[in-house]
Amino acid sequence: MKTVKQNVHYHVGNENETDMYSEILNGLKSMPKSISPKYFYDKKGSELFESITMLREYYPTRTELFILNKYKYEMADAAGADSVLIEFGSGSSEKVRTLLEAMPQLKEYVPIDISKDFLYQSARALSIEYPNINVHAVSADYTAKFEMPKLESKRKVVFFPGSTIGNFEPHEMGEFLKQTAELLKPGGGLLIGVDLKKDHTVLNAAYNDQKGVTRDFNLNLLNRLNRELLADFKLEDFSHHAFYHAEKGRVEMHLVSLKDQVITIGDEEIAFQEGETIHTENSYKFTIEEFQEIASLCGFTPKKVWCDEKRWFSMHFLEVK
Ligand code: AVI
Repeated sequence: MKTVKQNVHYHVGNENETDMYSEILNGLKSMPKSISPKYFYDKKGSELFESITMLREYYPTRTELFILNKYKYEMADAAGADSVLIEFGSGSSEKVRTLLEAMPQLKEYVPIDISKDFLYQSARALSIEYPNINVHAVSADYTAKFEMPKLESKRKVVFFPGSTIGNFEPHEMGEFLKQTAELLKPGGGLLIGVDLKKDHTVLNAAYNDQKGVTRDFNLNLLNRLNRELLADFKLEDFSHHAFYHAEKGRVEMHLVSLKDQVITIGDEEIAFQEGETIHTENSYKFTIEEFQEIASLCGFTPKKVWCDEKRWFSMHFLEVK
C-alpha cells in the first residue's frame, strides 16, 4: 500500500481567554458606549462581511486583489525564495493563493486564525492544492502572544492583507507592530494591506451601501448579544450610522438608539437615550507617509509600496530593523 506523507499540521498557538460578557458589559456601561469590532464575526457576521467584500461600493477587497495580482512577482521577490510565509487572520486563505502563484519555491506556510474549525478545514484544502508546501495551521488570536511551530526556514515573512490594521486603535496598532517585529526578528518582512485616505464621498459610500448589507452587518451584533448573552435588543429600535471623521482619519460605525429605552443583558439593565449610540467600529485610513512613519517608529524599515492607479489602497513591504 502507498503511504502519502501529510503536508498539513495543526497547532494551538494560544487559547481564547476573553470573557465576552464582561467585556461587552464594560463597553455598554462606558460613556460613550462602545463594543469591540471583533465581536462582529460570528457565523452570520462572517458571511455578511464576505458579502460586503463583493459590494459595488466596497472598493478595498477588490482593489487589494488587483494590486496583489498585478505585483505578485515583485512581492514574491521581496518576500524571498527561502522564507516561511505566515498569514494573520487567514480565514479561507483566498488572497494568499494569488501570492503563492508567484512563489512556486515556497516550502512553508503558516495560516493563523482564531476560528479553529474553519482554519483547519481551509488549511487542509490548501495543503491538497499545494502538495509541495508544508502547511502549519495555528489556531490563535494573533494580537496576543502565541506559540509558533518549529519551522525549517530561517527568515519569516508575515502576510497581513485586508487593511484589518485599520480596525485597531492607534495604541493597539503600535503594540501589534512591535509584537510582530519581535516575532519576525531583524531581516524578517511584513507584507501588509493598508487602506488610504481619499474623497469622503467614496469612503462614506463604502460603509453605507445601497443594499444595506453593512447595516445588517452592524445590526447583527445585537442579534449575537441576544443569542449568546441573553440580551433583549429589538433590532428595529436601532439604526446603522457610518461616516468619515476627517480630523480623526477614520470611518466610524455606530448603532443609534431610536428612542429612550432600557435593555436587559444577563442580569444587568442598560439605559439608552434617544439618539445615543454604541460605537461599534473605527476603520482608520492613512496616507502612505503616515503609515510608513508609524511602522518606522515600531521597528520596521519601509522597503516598497504598491498602489492602484487611483491610489485608493496600498500594499507595503516592510523589513524589521
Ligand atoms: C475588516 N475590516 C478591514 C473592514 C473595514 O473596512 O474596516 C470591516 C468593515 N466594516 C464595515 N465594512 C467593512
